[in-house]
Amino acid sequence: MAGRCAACVGQPQAGGGPDTRTVGAKIAPENERPPAARPDMAKASLARPGESPNMAVSNRGVRMIRRTTMLAALGLLALAGVALAEVAFAQGAATGTAEVIAQRRAGLKRMGQHMEAMKPVVEAGGEVKSLEPRIDDMITWFRGLPALFPPGSDAGDTKALPAIWQDFGRFESLDQALLGQLAQMKQAAAADDKTGFATLYKSLGPQYCGTCHRPFRAR
Ligand code: HEC
Repeated sequence: MAGRCAACVGQPQAGGGPDTRTVGAKIAPENERPPAARPDMAKASLARPGESPNMAVSNRGVRMIRRTTMLAALGLLALAGVALAEVAFAQGAATGTAEVIAQRRAGLKRMGQHMEAMKPVVEAGGEVKSLEPRIDDMITWFRGLPALFPPGSDAGDTKALPAIWQDFGRFESLDQALLGQLAQMKQAAAADDKTGFATLYKSLGPQYCGTCHRPFRAR
């Protein structure tokens, strides 16, 4: 009957009221810690720029031993304990960097795959608009590149050379130069400018990737 339905009007539906359960969600961000607060990162920073954590340990060890030549045997024993603790510290840092090395290598591999995938399109003079998502992924990834090279991450399964941390400013500026080229390529792709894109693509590998690989990556 029609009268029944009229009685429903204006009644709140089950569960339709304001949800008060979201209050609890506020707790979550407080549990998150920025990467800088992670103990493995803190350990990595023991090394000075240009030094692997292992070098930092051995240099420090030598200096300490010089300073303590006058100390009695007991003092030397205590010192050995300190040195051991520092070695354990350095090993902890190495474990932390293994993850970042694997992460950056996987990303760089994907960047290489983008290059390979674009090559036949450019060579055939095909439309380049469809390459824009690849350029976008490259721009996003290369923006984050410096953060994937924390000091000391030249130790392990990596071809990153210590030179990176001897001149990190240059390393970063080469990444910026590449990003500038990628920004132009994005514009050319968006406009489907085949000739413009091809010219930019051809200099990308040898000039912008190679310029960083030559001084900073082992062969
Ligand atoms: C700012 C410096 C820099 C730039 C720019 C750069 N690379 Fe690299 N690339 C490196 C370093 C350093 C390594 C060694 C990384 C490692 O082994 O930990 C590397 C390694 C690689 C690898 C090997 C990854 C693997 O399997 O281990 C590939 C592929 C690669 N780069 C592709 C590229 C491409 C493509 C570009 C340009 C679009 C590029 N890179 C631009 C620094 C750079």
